[in-house]
Amino acid sequence: MPLVTYLADRRMWLLRTPGSCYAFALDADDRPCHVHWGPPLTAEQALTVPPAPRRDTSSFTQPGYGELEGPGFGAPSLRLIYADHGEGVEWRHLDHEIDGGRLSVRFADRHHPLEITLHYRVHDDGDVIERWTTLRHTGADDAEPITLERCDSAAWTLPPRDGVRLSHMVGGWSAENQVRREEPPVGETVLTSRRGTTGHHANPWIMLDDGTATEERGEVWSAALAWSGSWRITVQRPPFDAVGFTGGFGHEGLRLRLAPGRSWHTPIFAGVYGSAGFGAVSRAWHAYTRRHVLPHPDELRPVVYNSWEATGFDVDLDGQVRLADRAAALGAELFVLDDGWFGDRSSDRAGLGDWQVNPERFPGGLNKLIGAVRQRGMRFGLWVEPEMVNPDSRLYREHPDWVLHMPHRRRTTLRNQLVLNFARPDVAAWAYDWLDRLLSEHGIDFLKWDFNRAFTEAGWPGQDDPGRLWIDHVRNVYAIMDRLRAAHPGVRIEACAGGGGRTDLGVLNRTDQIWTSDNTDAVDRLVIQHGFSQVYPAGTMVAWVTDSPNPLTGRLVPLRFRFHVAMAGVLGLGGDLSAWDEAELAEAAELVAEYKRIRPVVQHGALHRLGTPGESLSGVQYVHGDDIVILAYRVKTRFGHHAARLRPAGMDPDARYRDVVTGRIHHGAVLASHGLELDLPQGDHASAQVHLVRQDP
Ligand code: GLA
Repeated sequence: MPLVTYLADRRMWLLRTPGSCYAFALDADDRPCHVHWGPPLTAEQALTVPPAPRRDTSSFTQPGYGELEGPGFGAPSLRLIYADHGEGVEWRHLDHEIDGGRLSVRFADRHHPLEITLHYRVHDDGDVIERWTTLRHTGADDAEPITLERCDSAAWTLPPRDGVRLSHMVGGWSAENQVRREEPPVGETVLTSRRGTTGHHANPWIMLDDGTATEERGEVWSAALAWSGSWRITVQRPPFDAVGFTGGFGHEGLRLRLAPGRSWHTPIFAGVYGSAGFGAVSRAWHAYTRRHVLPHPDELRPVVYNSWEATGFDVDLDGQVRLADRAAALGAELFVLDDGWFGDRSSDRAGLGDWQVNPERFPGGLNKLIGAVRQRGMRFGLWVEPEMVNPDSRLYREHPDWVLHMPHRRRTTLRNQLVLNFARPDVAAWAYDWLDRLLSEHGIDFLKWDFNRAFTEAGWPGQDDPGRLWIDHVRNVYAIMDRLRAAHPGVRIEACAGGGGRTDLGVLNRTDQIWTSDNTDAVDRLVIQHGFSQVYPAGTMVAWVTDSPNPLTGRLVPLRFRFHVAMAGVLGLGGDLSAWDEAELAEAAELVAEYKRIRPVVQHGALHRLGTPGESLSGVQYVHGDDIVILAYRVKTRFGHHAARLRPAGMDPDARYRDVVTGRIHHGAVLASHGLELDLPQGDHASAQVHLVRQDP
């Protein structure tokens, strides 16, 4: 079955994935009209889909230029203004091209010098449909520019369903990824970031269901935007019609100029439909991210030790070597020196931007520490925050015009820092140069690339197209990462923004992992990780075991529980190991070894969420070939009731499963029906890890 089919009689395109189908067609006026996104349909069936009765939602509408039934009035996916103050697009279909799973359909405006191409890509290994848009100003050199007020990547429409629910994320610093699932009001619901970055407060993905879906059952439509700057997704729920949404980069009010001869490309806004609940849609995202987004999907991520929570800004050669000693003894494979190694950076008030090694802290440079780390069998990583500057720095004193700023406006500092304008070619070139030099002159295997504040006063005086900086900043960050990776193919990158503020498919396309949150409290982390897992795979989710009481929350949690929570992703250690006693160190070493045994299953397996983190029992299960790993958590014991059974997902009733540690044989039919009895200690913060292997029949 071809992935993309063109049905010439109806001027309809059909995209078919293993478990879904997407179709759109041209109407008599050449306007692209949504037909279907949902369960698989044959071409014959797709041709009989009734047109929607009203068009408040669309595949690419804008006020005054709706589809099928005359004007649509939904939130516009495209909002263009011409020099004569005319707006919108009168579509004229030019041609299309099909290349395997790729489809591009080209249009022109009937009057203005504008070409629009709608791009689609499907793969035969999953149900994710990628979509993006390009615009091209086809006028002569002296033609007037076209103003872009909105240029979304895609709009998506659901088939008519009652009782729709919207799932999305809310949060904040140290509280990322809190899932909200609620009925959207009739009207428009806008999810957005106006911060220049993805954000802690929201994340550019949504899921919609008909109000009855569960983790294992029901239809779910989901979309995620591959972009790390400001963004907007508008969900439209008309009173009588199907729900739809449109999304893309930039927030409201950004104006961009499209000059003659220039093209404009949006990021990918991918969608996936699934009929087996939220869990299956999450797994579809995870598989897609591994196969088509991540640069090194087959690698196993190393166990990291990061010194931030141990030493803060107080870093020096001897202290770091002492920590490296202990980290290596515990089994860490990568040692990361965090903030504080450069310039006058003894607190967050100074030095950011001065990327020269601090000679008092590291006499003779970083190479002694790097040598010591390597001697102990670990790779070496370094923290950087290239897009930022402290006003108290040599860089800022030399280049005060390099930061985002506006005339006659204060330069608001957040965490005592300003944002460098990476849209400026000279700033981007400076950043690439020092990063390239740093990597060329040292044996650095890993960068933790941080971004600790949002944009404010985001201006670029003297530019006649100031809105562009919001987009070009991100594009240049991407370009620098891409160039660095090409020039230093061994280097791996962790995306970080004050914790998980830059978690998205765009950054995952050029990095290897995400620092999930600055909150390392194991109980809070269960919730944060549950939200992360809705779209992003466990093999990208970095989780450190830190000290107890936790420095942020003051909560006391046993070491084993802290480990079992961090083992659900890419395990790291982040505590002050110099304060851990012998018993703790011995237990930690055992647990690191335990993680390494289950790591391929956790990082590359299919994830099943077993319940929602709360006070009673919940867990996560990973399935990789015949291996099954379950991590189970009981945060609180109540009323003497020791909940200790979890029902694993996807058990084959005819199969037997052997517990790798106890050797005990479990029957799939019994596990599926009665659950797995867990050996949980008494009391609060009880946890267990179980590794089962499916036996040959
Ligand atoms: C951010 C990161 C932390 C740490 C500090 C350093 O908050 O999320 O992990 O790197 O910056 O200043």
